[in-house]
Amino acid sequence: MRTQVGIVGAGPAGLFLSHLLHLRGIDSVVLELRSREHVEKRVRAGVLEQGTVDLLTETGVGDRMAKEGLVHHGIELRFGGRGHRVPLSELAGGRAITIYGQQEVVKDLIAARLADGGRILFEAGAVGLDGIDSDTPAVRYRHRGRDEVLECDLVAGCDGFHGVCRDAVPQGVLTAYEREYPFAWLGILASVPPSTKELIYSHHERGFALHSMRSPTLSRFYLQVDPDESLDRWPAERIWSELQTRLAVADGSWSLAEGPIVEQGITAMRSFVVEPMQYGRLYLAGDAAHIVPATGAKGLNLAVADVRVLADALAGWYGDGDTGPLDAYSERCLRRVWRAQHFSWWMTSMLHRFAGGDPYQHKLQLAELRYAVTSKAAATTLAENYVGLVEV
Ligand code: FAD
Ligand code: PHB
Repeated sequence: MRTQVGIVGAGPAGLFLSHLLHLRGIDSVVLELRSREHVEKRVRAGVLEQGTVDLLTETGVGDRMAKEGLVHHGIELRFGGRGHRVPLSELAGGRAITIYGQQEVVKDLIAARLADGGRILFEAGAVGLDGIDSDTPAVRYRHRGRDEVLECDLVAGCDGFHGVCRDAVPQGVLTAYEREYPFAWLGILASVPPSTKELIYSHHERGFALHSMRSPTLSRFYLQVDPDESLDRWPAERIWSELQTRLAVADGSWSLAEGPIVEQGITAMRSFVVEPMQYGRLYLAGDAAHIVPATGAKGLNLAVADVRVLADALAGWYGDGDTGPLDAYSERCLRRVWRAQHFSWWMTSMLHRFAGGDPYQHKLQLAELRYAVTSKAAATTLAENYVGLVEV
């Protein structure tokens, strides 16, 4: 098989890149390890920045999001047993966030690609790349029990953190910057109306908790747990009891409604960046190149921002042979990536309990949280980063 751009991975990065390229008249094929059902059901991110929403809308894949997405103009920081609202839109020039599940974005993008005649091969796992330092790169993959090859002009490595593309770059070319956190998130989806209108990020002596949502009848929660924690040790009663404790307000003026848990999982918290995000004819995008801890809600948004830059650069290259934007791809993306790295690290450090419960650090966190909700300058910093910066 042959195409112009060979895309590995049908997550938000790969699918949106394929869609953007199609709009510019550039052909692509997407190879995806998992089944269509699997990627459409995988519960992950929920917060879309204003820029992501605008881009999905402008490129014709925002109809269902406009109907079903929940637009939020603020978030709550809860600490010391009290809630404090951060009025995001008021502080960030009217920009807002939209709550719309990542798997819904993925469903909408797959539907759009297939309706436009796009080629997505599910259960087609890439096993290796050839010739990325030549003009004729190729992706080797396995599909329906057979070894196949996709020949292309360029490869977009959109295969997430555990994919194969990053490893195809020769040793010594990439520099990895990394931080592991001594905790993970246990996430649940519960069939119960949210007990809050806006997201609640809660700092508590027992650890961080987050109350998010997916719809008026579906709530999403996260609990900070040990990094090696197993779901077997967390029956529903324990999860709810911990959420009740960590989200409680001192004066009892708020209560948390419980309901059946319909999905659960544990996610590691990690910060990771490789530089550069390109080598020869291989361009890495999204989680394949960088990971942020989920506290800043930035991962999916960064994936979308990367492929926007890549699609523009490819349009220039195919259009008039301009190699400048392609050469500058990594540099352009990394400015936003590092801003999001810092924001995600900062939110994570401010809200989680660190091993040993260092009392000095606990006091620093409370001072930082208080500053974030009492100083307009500090609250604006949080707000403009959270809704997504226009310029970086
Ligand atoms: P992925 O979504 O990981 O897609 C990569 C795809 O490549 C996958 O479909 C995978 O199956 C496929 N693949 C892997 N290997 C191969 C192979 N060898 N061959 C072919 N295909 C392959 N981000 C936010 O912006 N906001 C949030 O609120 C948020 N919350 C999150 C909550 C949780 C619990 C988690 C886990 C993540 C969250 N994120 C959030 C992060 C976000 O989900 C990721 O950053 C996003 O999925 C990145 O998209 P991607 O397309 O780069 O990678
Ligand atoms: C989610 O709803 O899944 C979610 C919300 C906010 C975050 C992370 C995840 O920071």
